[in-house]
Amino acid sequence: MLILCIESSCDETAAAIVRDGREMLSNIVASQVDVHARYGGVVPELASRKHVEAISVVINSALEEAGVTVAQIEGIGVTRGPGLIGALLVGLSTAKAMAWALGVPLAAVHHIEGHILAPLLEEAPEFPFLALAVSGGHTHLYRVEGIGRYRTLGQTLDDAAGEAYDKVAKLLGLGYPGGAMIDRLATQGNPEAIAFPRPMLHKPNCNFSFSGIKTAVRQYVDKCQGTIDEKHMVDIAASFQEAMVEVLTRKTLRAAANEGLTRIVVAGGVACNSGLRTRFAELSPEHGVKVFFPSPSLCGDNAAMLGVPANYYLENGRHADNAVNAVSSWTLDEAGDD
Ligand code: KG4
Ligand code: ZN
Repeated sequence: MLILCIESSCDETAAAIVRDGREMLSNIVASQVDVHARYGGVVPELASRKHVEAISVVINSALEEAGVTVAQIEGIGVTRGPGLIGALLVGLSTAKAMAWALGVPLAAVHHIEGHILAPLLEEAPEFPFLALAVSGGHTHLYRVEGIGRYRTLGQTLDDAAGEAYDKVAKLLGLGYPGGAMIDRLATQGNPEAIAFPRPMLHKPNCNFSFSGIKTAVRQYVDKCQGTIDEKHMVDIAASFQEAMVEVLTRKTLRAAANEGLTRIVVAGGVACNSGLRTRFAELSPEHGVKVFFPSPSLCGDNAAMLGVPANYYLENGRHADNAVNAVSSWTLDEAGDD
């Protein structure tokens, strides 16, 4: 089955062509980062307007790169939520109109479902597995029994990991979004230079809290009163990253052990993080687990990741209703089959 996938939940307009839920024929992403950077974060109305501008262009590029005509499309997969409502409505309306005009079925997919199933486009982990979804809006641990079968084990009680990275980058004057920039600086600094807190590390549950780390960085920076030079800056970045990576890896490995799972998927924008990738690789042998990271182009927001669940739902007759609407908040447990 040849599926056109459309994603517009935040500040990336994306379209992809995926065959049989496995083979990615194209994956086009138009980023709005430059538009939002000057405001220090995503401006929802601007995001919607930019999606309207970009969506047809991106879909045409996805078809062209895949060497596929629109008449060959057999189904459409689209992000229904969660995300910015105005942004979601652009992708969903486009997908509904195209499905209607082409006479093909539509699958409405949860954004995070796309993220955590992205590895199935590459070196597919067998089910069941533990999924750590780490992005600008999510830091969640899920038990994944199969496509559409998810159980939330825990989540952040305040900031998402990506949000913490972006806020710390902003207070260090690094610009938006800052995750990748902190990561780059962190590789040059001393991770033990400053002892930032590790919130919830020793709590025997699967929840996270990152606002305390961010506040500790703010207090540290305030104390330095504008005296931070380049060397000091890389040490702050490395020490912050160390605190984030330690909490994320230790709590995820403990959750896997408690659940009796030996396969872990780490997905979402923060899964690009070099420290997270290295630490999981170092720790996985002693914990007897295999950790799957999607390629960086499949970690950040993209449409190809929707192809895995969309193909499954379309093949199993779980077609979206004609009246399907976008939802800004939606849990993965609600979106699944059980
Ligand atoms: O999944 P994503 O593209 O969008 C959402 O669904 O939120 O994730 C974006 C987040 C941003 O907060 C960004 O700063 C963060 O992922 N990010 C990173 C890295 N690359 C992107 N955070 C840490 N290290 C990175 N290398
Ligand atoms: Zn995302």
